[in-house]
Amino acid sequence: MTSETGKKVIFKLFKYVILYWPYFFSTLLFLIFSVVLSLVPPWLIQYGVDNVISAGDKNLLILLTFIMIGVSLTKGVVDFFQRYLSEIATQKVIHRLRSDLYQNLNRLSFFFYDESKTGDIISRITSDTETLRRFFSFVTVNIIANVATIIGVLVVLLSWSYQLAILYVFILPFMFHAMKKYSTRVSPVYKKSRARLASLTDNVQETFSTIETVKLLGGEDYEEKIFDHENNSFRDTNIKAGRISAFWMPYVDFLLGAATSLVIFFGGWMTIRGEISIGILLGFTSYLAILTRPIRQTGMMMNLVFRAIAGGERIFELLEEEPEIKDKPSAIDLPQIKGKVEYKNVSFSYPGGEKVLSNVNFTVFPGETLAIVGPTGAGKTSLVHLLPRFYNLTKGKILIDDYDINDVKITTLRNQIGIIMQHDMLFSTTIRDNISYGNQKATNKEIIDCARLARIHDFVTSLPQGYDTQVGEKGVKLSGGEVQRIIIARLLLQDPGLIIMDESTSNLDEKIESEIQEALKELFKGRTVFIIAHRLWTIKEADKILVVKDGSLVEEGNHNELINKKSGVYKNMIKGLEV
Ligand SMILES: Nc1ncnc2c1ncn2[C@@H]1O[C@H](COP(=O)(O)OP(=O)(O)OP(=O)(O)O)[C@@H](O)[C@H]1O
Ligand SMILES: [Mg+2]
Repeated sequence: MTSETGKKVIFKLFKYVILYWPYFFSTLLFLIFSVVLSLVPPWLIQYGVDNVISAGDKNLLILLTFIMIGVSLTKGVVDFFQRYLSEIATQKVIHRLRSDLYQNLNRLSFFFYDESKTGDIISRITSDTETLRRFFSFVTVNIIANVATIIGVLVVLLSWSYQLAILYVFILPFMFHAMKKYSTRVSPVYKKSRARLASLTDNVQETFSTIETVKLLGGEDYEEKIFDHENNSFRDTNIKAGRISAFWMPYVDFLLGAATSLVIFFGGWMTIRGEISIGILLGFTSYLAILTRPIRQTGMMMNLVFRAIAGGERIFELLEEEPEIKDKPSAIDLPQIKGKVEYKNVSFSYPGGEKVLSNVNFTVFPGETLAIVGPTGAGKTSLVHLLPRFYNLTKGKILIDDYDINDVKITTLRNQIGIIMQHDMLFSTTIRDNISYGNQKATNKEIIDCARLARIHDFVTSLPQGYDTQVGEKGVKLSGGEVQRIIIARLLLQDPGLIIMDESTSNLDEKIESEIQEALKELFKGRTVFIIAHRLWTIKEADKILVVKDGSLVEEGNHNELINKKSGVYKNMIKGLEV
């Protein structure tokens, strides 16, 4: 990390601080007040020794004691407000950062998710923001307090004796030099440690999200080995950081001890020569004791600063990641669609990949069902994913109702397209919320009507908790057919003009199959449908069939036309489905 990026990160963080400036400003006021109060006791010691004890004034001694207690008490109250306010300020900044991160993650395109690891994203949202939290609630506060203390002590010393002040100024650079050395050694190691942690998180996340496969293939030992490797390098990196820190901390302590001894020697010398009073010598040594803490802390602070910068860098990287696919400045709302779709010379390749589609041309008219068939890997899913602009075309144009999809606002485009994926999953919430996901304003009646049409209502009401049944990870486990029908109900409620369905190849029993068939017929009514079909009935009933092979359209027509084609690609494929 260069100091340049460090400065940039701090500057960007500062912009967040400005948003909540009243909290930060009042924290600062309480903080300065607290520092001033912490400087009072040594001054009182000096006054007490020189003017009260030596004069034998008992009443003044009692008064002085009460003043000391009062100062401590006030400092306690001030510290309470300072800590409380700084926590509020910090939590507000971190909360804001976290939600900005989450919002941006939602905006990002499939390109981004194809290339990034979930564990890494999670660790940026959780542990990197945590580093920043510590930076704000602990580091900044301490750095300000320490600087204020160092300056405050200097002011009091100057008022006592300029020789002592010079001595004091003279030893400070040694301390800070040691601390700087410490931080330049440790910070790169900490940066590495953060990267290792992210990689470890990622490994765990990946293993357990594919745990079924791991167990099925007996991959536990293999996974353990990989985990061990990650775990070991995380440990080794942290031990290295620990070793560097273990060496430099005592070194700083030694310098501190030596400096204090020197000061006491010179101070004692001046006292003997009558240049300063005993009270001042005592006060001075008390100040040195107060200073030990800030100086010792500097190293740890620097450390946390570097960590925060590393964490901040990772956070802003994600925050500033621009979605590959976004609205043109001139984008317009796509009006309610009728459902005509044209692909014109469409070619497409994934970033850095080979051509997946080349020169695809076809037109679908409103209300038509288009079946897309072809061997696995032919490019069927890629073909339909271009329509809601999950990816940008490499060449060519796609028009919906004569609007180029690149010229309209993405939300108005996607709102009007309903998708049933190859392996759809429900959200971990109630059945009702799953159905109303695309249309939060739907009434209960509308939800039930759609569930009826989707042939899932009877099943839902047979569950003890009906529509309030929790599904997903912590809830009721549903079969593939049930999930599909809930999704069909969701789409019926969303009421998009265009449906894309990537049919799953899984075989369902006949009764469920026919229920799904009925549900789908309801859904397809009056809508343009793109269906990647594996079932004979869907293919046969389609108005138009596209046969895709190696990214090109090889045949096009309806079932009767294609079955008689000489090239016979479709004919051979259908034979496979009929058995
Ligand atoms: N996100 C991606 N990044 C890079 N390449 C991809 C991506 N998704 C698919 N591909 C590649 O694009 C080609 C076409 O894939 P696609 O998923 O469109 O095929 P498909 O016809 O839907 O196959 P299937 O019937 O198995 O679902 C394949 O070679 C695949 O490896
Ligand atoms: Mg596919």
